[in-house]
Amino acid sequence: MSQQQNAFPPLNDDTKFNLVAGSVAAVTMLLSIVAFWWIWLIVQPPAPKPIPESAVYNNYDPAGNHLKPESLAAMQKYITENEQPKNVQILKGWNTKQISNYMVAQVAGGLKVDCSYCHNINNFADESNPNKAKSRAMMLMSGDLNRSFVSKLPVSVGGYNITCATCHNGKPKFETYPTEIQNTLPNDYRLPLEREYPGGLVITGVKTKSLDEVELNQNTMYHMNLSLGQGCTFCHNARYFPATGVKEGGRDQKQHATWMLQMSKHINNSYSPIMANQTPSCWMCHQGNSVPPGAAKAGQVPDVLSTTSSAP
Ligand code: HEC
Ligand code: HEC
Ligand code: HEC
Ligand code: HEC
Repeated sequence: MSQQQNAFPPLNDDTKFNLVAGSVAAVTMLLSIVAFWWIWLIVQPPAPKPIPESAVYNNYDPAGNHLKPESLAAMQKYITENEQPKNVQILKGWNTKQISNYMVAQVAGGLKVDCSYCHNINNFADESNPNKAKSRAMMLMSGDLNRSFVSKLPVSVGGYNITCATCHNGKPKFETYPTEIQNTLPNDYRLPLEREYPGGLVITGVKTKSLDEVELNQNTMYHMNLSLGQGCTFCHNARYFPATGVKEGGRDQKQHATWMLQMSKHINNSYSPIMANQTPSCWMCHQGNSVPPGAAKAGQVPDVLSTTSSAP
């Protein structure tokens, strides 16, 4: 029988290989997505505990017994003796009382430490405590993140800002990638922050992507699910994961997550030295919520550190 009489053109070896490899890859990917959903259903994170309403924060209570009576007395004395501050570099334009209110609610209240953690309480303008200088760097970082990334999110998300409490959550020292999330992912797993976003985790239609790449995508997606306390469809159209754009119901969470990946990358590149060389995770801020506990409501953050500021 000659070739011409055949109804279908013969397959050469390359095409055969591509067909077989392609089907294997497609089936593997489908199975792993199914398995992923299945695992997700089994190990959903517990619902976050309800926390008293705060005038300043989403889901965070800055109260506690971290402030010593002698520090509060020293604060009153300092306010009475110095109506204007003597040594501010960032919080310019505020009087001493306004600065002190911010310190109580967001700085001492965000880390749950006494004023003496950063100050000589006999002179709040004194610069001898290294934690004061560290905190200035932290303020500038918070302002940068709000201005450069959080400001891109539409108001429908809530209009929240990053504050000290958003990362610190009532602790001066903490793990940015704690066991809560480590236990659910391979132990040395970190967000792939050396890649470019959007695009760094795309696997669909890229023939050269290995199974390792698929696994990395899955770990990252799982990291996001747990960190935000949401399922895959919070960000994705479940019928077609590569899809982008506003979903039914209004928002474009996949786009928001892309900006957040860019923000995490920026934190890692620019600020890990002041964060004790730790790398950020989505959990660091979100802790199982779509809006992080300790994010401040619109208008609560000093202008100069907010989403609407220009660089100080
Ligand atoms: C985690 C560190 C930290 C803690 C805790 C803290 N502060 Fe501050 N405080 C700062 C920094 C940083 C500045 C300087 C801000 C600037 O340069 O704009 C400052 C400035 C001040 C000033 C202005 C002093 C001046 O005259 O220049 C006052 C007043 C003040 N803090 C009061 C307090 C009080 C009261 C508390 C406790 C309720 C407190 N702070 C807790 C870091 C801290
Ligand atoms: C993007 C996350 C993030 C934000 C926002 C943030 N911090 Fe931090 N901060 C960290 C990390 C991570 C460390 C290192 C923690 C450790 O050493 O365990 C740290 C360390 C510190 C330290 C040193 C603690 C010590 O004892 O060594 C101080 C002081 C501090 N932050 C103050 C602040 C203040 C004040 C704000 C708000 C203006 C703030 N931080 C906002 C992530 C953040
Ligand atoms: C918080 C939002 C968010 C959640 C939740 C989330 N994803 Fe994603 N996903 C993204 C983003 C953003 C990208 C694109 C990343 C990039 O640009 O590289 C992505 C990419 C993907 C891709 C690659 C798509 C492509 O174009 O090749 C797959 C597959 C995927 N996600 C599956 C899942 C699955 C399965 C879950 C649930 C277990 C999930 N995602 C949960 C935000 C999310
Ligand atoms: C430094 C703190 C911080 C980190 C780290 C962070 N986020 Fe966020 N994220 C926020 C804040 C604050 C908001 C709420 C902003 C608002 O109300 O506009 C937010 C909002 C979001 C939203 C919007 C939710 C909605 O309803 O549309 C998504 C999606 C999101 N983050 C995903 C992520 C992902 C994915 C990561 C990790 C790659 C991440 N975030 C890391 C602070 C953070």
